[in-house]
Amino acid sequence: MTDAIELTITDLARSGAGVARDAGGRVIFVPLTAPGDRVRARICSEEKKYALAEAVEVLEPSPGRVEPRCSVFGRCGGCMWQHIPYQKQWTTKLGGVMHALGRVGLKDAPKPDEFPAHDPWNYRNRIQLRGNGDTLGFYARKSHDIVAVDTCPVARQEINAALAGIRTTGSKLVRPYKAEVEVLPDGTVRTVWNAPHGAGGFRQLHDEQNTHLQAWVGRAVPDGSGVVFDLFGGSGNLSRPLAGRAGQVHCVDISIPPDAGAGAPGNMTFHRTAVLRWLIKTRRNPERFIALESAAQNIVIVDPPRIGLAEEMKELLPALAALKVQRVVAVGCDPDSWARDLCKLTRAGWRLTGCAVFDFFPQTPHVECAGVLEKPDSSSY
Ligand SMILES: C[S@@+](CC[C@H](N)C(=O)[O-])C[C@H]1O[C@@H](n2cnc3c(N)ncnc32)[C@H](O)[C@@H]1O
Repeated sequence: MTDAIELTITDLARSGAGVARDAGGRVIFVPLTAPGDRVRARICSEEKKYALAEAVEVLEPSPGRVEPRCSVFGRCGGCMWQHIPYQKQWTTKLGGVMHALGRVGLKDAPKPDEFPAHDPWNYRNRIQLRGNGDTLGFYARKSHDIVAVDTCPVARQEINAALAGIRTTGSKLVRPYKAEVEVLPDGTVRTVWNAPHGAGGFRQLHDEQNTHLQAWVGRAVPDGSGVVFDLFGGSGNLSRPLAGRAGQVHCVDISIPPDAGAGAPGNMTFHRTAVLRWLIKTRRNPERFIALESAAQNIVIVDPPRIGLAEEMKELLPALAALKVQRVVAVGCDPDSWARDLCKLTRAGWRLTGCAVFDFFPQTPHVECAGVLEKPDSSSY
């Protein structure tokens, strides 16, 4: 084990860690610190240009720190930023998105619309708890030990009110367990025991920010649009509200909950398949989906997981032409993969005309981004 060194934290990285430099000028990332802290830290791993360290002691706390609300902050693997004032969290996220765009050559991207969280606490509509006997809580940072909690300050209050009952039920189970607790849209709380992650399909975690995202995406879809293709659409969160404005809506996702179609508008169709597979099939047979002579605008929404459009990108570009798409709305939860995908689209001639940044995950470094891209010459279809 290395000796501890003294460091002054000068910045906050968008990964969440505080940033310092050692005596030789090398960058050191120290999680759970704040700009202005003086800490003793121990190097845990070294890369060519930087090192990662753990703070063993805060020698002088930054005046810019705030008191974390949670008694297990720092031990629990969940939040990383409860000691950072919310405004600083937000500006770091915004700056991180701009940095990601700049890195791929999109320095001149339009100024993003900004959606910081109105209330950065008690927002999560779903949490995943771990339990064993009488202990109920979350996995600890970097381990599968359980950190016991009575309450979680980022979970919705309805969830917190249910925790004692979940602990009582869980304590009667013979084995360690997982409990996924969710506030459903009608306000009831549902607990699912020991189901694989995401078994019930994907749902955005922050209802208020989701409303902003839906509205922002909606503004990119004019009345009288032709076909909206919602790729990585889940249960149609982003496209369902648009069905009244478009001729047809096709929602494509590998994991569509069985009840997704219930109550869906009549012009909405769900395709339970991998996006890559769907793109390959569709490119060969686009008339299955669109009336090729229609002058109405067709729109693609993409909202992939963190990895972004991996294999899918090379099939997406020809599919956009085959489906006569005039506008792409690209949503992403990782600024780097999102910016990389925007860059590939712009290199293929698409023009970035709007951006937005949403804080779905206060008290953590995660951030959601969206962009609108226009085909510059729609007459060429
Ligand atoms: C970030 S979520 C977005 C869901 C939806 N747009 C929403 O707002 O609720 C990503 C979605 O991609 C789906 N997914 C992941 N990999 C996929 C793949 N290869 N093909 C199709 N869907 C995939 C997941 O099931 C998940 O629903």
